[in-house]
Amino acid sequence: MFYQLARHFLFKLDPEVAHELTIKQLSLLGGTPLDIFFRQHVPSRPVQVMGLTFDNPVGLAAGLDKDGEAIDAFGAMGFGFVEVGTVTPRPQPGNDKPRLFRVIPAEGIINRMGFNNKGVDHLVEKLKKTRYQGIIGVNIGKNKDTPLENGKDDYLICMDKVYPYAGYIAINISSPNTPGLRQLQYGAALDELLVALKQRQTELAQLHGKYVPLAIKIAPDMNDDELAQVAASLLNSQVDGVIATNTTLDREMIFDMPHANEAGGLSGRPLQAKSTEFIRKLAGHLKGAIPIIGVGGIDSPLAAREKIDAGAALVQIYSGFIYKGPPLVRAIVEHLR
Ligand SMILES: Cc1cc2nc3c(=O)[nH]c(=O)nc-3n(C[C@H](O)[C@H](O)[C@H](O)COP(=O)(O)O)c2cc1C
Repeated sequence: MFYQLARHFLFKLDPEVAHELTIKQLSLLGGTPLDIFFRQHVPSRPVQVMGLTFDNPVGLAAGLDKDGEAIDAFGAMGFGFVEVGTVTPRPQPGNDKPRLFRVIPAEGIINRMGFNNKGVDHLVEKLKKTRYQGIIGVNIGKNKDTPLENGKDDYLICMDKVYPYAGYIAINISSPNTPGLRQLQYGAALDELLVALKQRQTELAQLHGKYVPLAIKIAPDMNDDELAQVAASLLNSQVDGVIATNTTLDREMIFDMPHANEAGGLSGRPLQAKSTEFIRKLAGHLKGAIPIIGVGGIDSPLAAREKIDAGAALVQIYSGFIYKGPPLVRAIVEHLR
């Protein structure tokens, strides 16, 4: 009821203004008695994945709270885990506005934000302050002006800084909005990156006396051969998890709808079936050796169930949360009991 009212107001605003306003309010109210506006009881349904215990399997997907401003508020909504970021070593403004579009008839979103964020140091300060008891994933990326061949260094810089504060670290090599980034998903570039990350993980585990799992986030826009190769690389390097999927460049499902021709990644319901099929194929390759975090168009308990049936151990939501609000978190967890 409260979310319907809030949504009515927010959807009258420009999408990015609505987003900023919401994060601001949540950051102010989170952790205070006024969080009653969005706090809800969600039943505990613990699951063990990547060696971590998640209180329930429903997480907030990356990109909604890039700078970790409102972690406590998302915790109060009952998320089993919250993934913050993508952050980059240095702050950067992202692409020119407008860069965020609602595709309302399909409950979709197109974005070409381009990793706008306040930088990893700012995020670390937020991570030090949060009182959220659940698992925080930290999603890291590379600065736009770092040449692709030096991209690895950006991931390592971020990894060093967030390692002590992260429950797991997500490696984003699948945003369509940083030129060339998706090339890191393939062949020698991927293998080299994974070797470097796993080696640094071993060093950091020793230094900090704790093992922080690494999850690789991939895009749904690849053919079967490419997917098979990516899966082989993931298995080879023994990464701890894979997050599937990021947004799609495909517009087939919304070709006749408003904003269909905007550049960027499409998310929400139009992505649902595509990402579920992708997860099914990925799970076929991984055969349970690497857990999958399923994300893409989850907007109902049934859609979450489909991701899990396709092979996901955990799920995340972003666009569904924009359209349905906090009640979606509770509905999914209750249904999955
Ligand atoms: C506005 C917006 C910004 C996003 N930013 C990021 C990001 O910074 N890093 C990332 O890994 N994914 C990002 N994503 C992708 C989401 O985490 C998710 O993978 C994708 O939207 C599919 O899930 P959904 O259909 O539930 O939205 C973003 C998505 C949206 C809509």
